Amino acid sequence: MLRVEDLSVAYGSVKALEGFSLEVAERGVLHGVIGANGAGKSTLMDAITGRRKPTRGRVFVDGRDITRLSVVQRRRLGMSRSFQRTSIFPGIRVGEQLELVASQLGETDLNGIVDTLELGPVYHELADSIAYGDQRRVDIALALVGQPALMLLDEPAAGLSTSETVALFEHLAKVVRERNVTALVVEHDVEAVFRFCDTITALDLGRLLASGSPAAVRSDPRVIAAYLGSAG
Ligand SMILES: Nc1ncnc2c1ncn2[C@@H]1O[C@H](COP(=O)(O)OP(=O)(O)OP(=O)(O)O)[C@@H](O)[C@H]1O
Ligand SMILES: [Mg+2]
Repeated sequence: MLRVEDLSVAYGSVKALEGFSLEVAERGVLHGVIGANGAGKSTLMDAITGRRKPTRGRVFVDGRDITRLSVVQRRRLGMSRSFQRTSIFPGIRVGEQLELVASQLGETDLNGIVDTLELGPVYHELADSIAYGDQRRVDIALALVGQPALMLLDEPAAGLSTSETVALFEHLAKVVRERNVTALVVEHDVEAVFRFCDTITALDLGRLLASGSPAAVRSDPRVIAAYLGSAG
């Protein structure tokens, strides 16, 4: 359903992505993206969502070449995203914010989204007054509005403890299963990625290191050498 082909992105002389390819075959897959700081993970998310134009290469969704489409056109085709920082508005209730976005995008199953992410208990709370872990689930709920086929989540667990990260990934696994959405998720906690993701891509300095099942990526000599080190 998603294919990235020979993608390159440069910021001036910095080659953030270089001849990068990636494929996620089906819907309903949790796909982890791992790599050291500066490896090009956020750049990859930006290139897939249309925020950053590649200097070379193509992006396909369901076989359709979307490389030249705008962010808004891609959103209409069923692509949504969340950012490294939370998108929550302070001073407005969780439910109000969700209802606002739902009415904009014609979402008819907001209750289903709220149930999947177990946001019922905080629905009437002010968004900036709830626990940070709950705020991160609101971010995911916002990305789920409008029935996207593909969600791009850039470090949804940023700022969470190890146990909170595990809880968030449990929710993500449930989201992809229950809502038949594919999620590409950037995450630094490799243990959580190996435990919860169906497939994984590892990158290093803008290049593909390995892609495949958690077991295959974990045992890949290039991943161990470049990224996991002796701890892998
Ligand atoms: N707007 C920009 N202008 C110039 N260079 C940039 C810009 N954004 C990113 N870079 C550079 O491109 C490379 C890839 O950055 P990117 O943000 O994609 O990495 P990342 O894998 O998301 O890192 P992190 O784990 O720290 O979020 C880095 O060398 C970074 O310094
Ligand atoms: Mg990043």
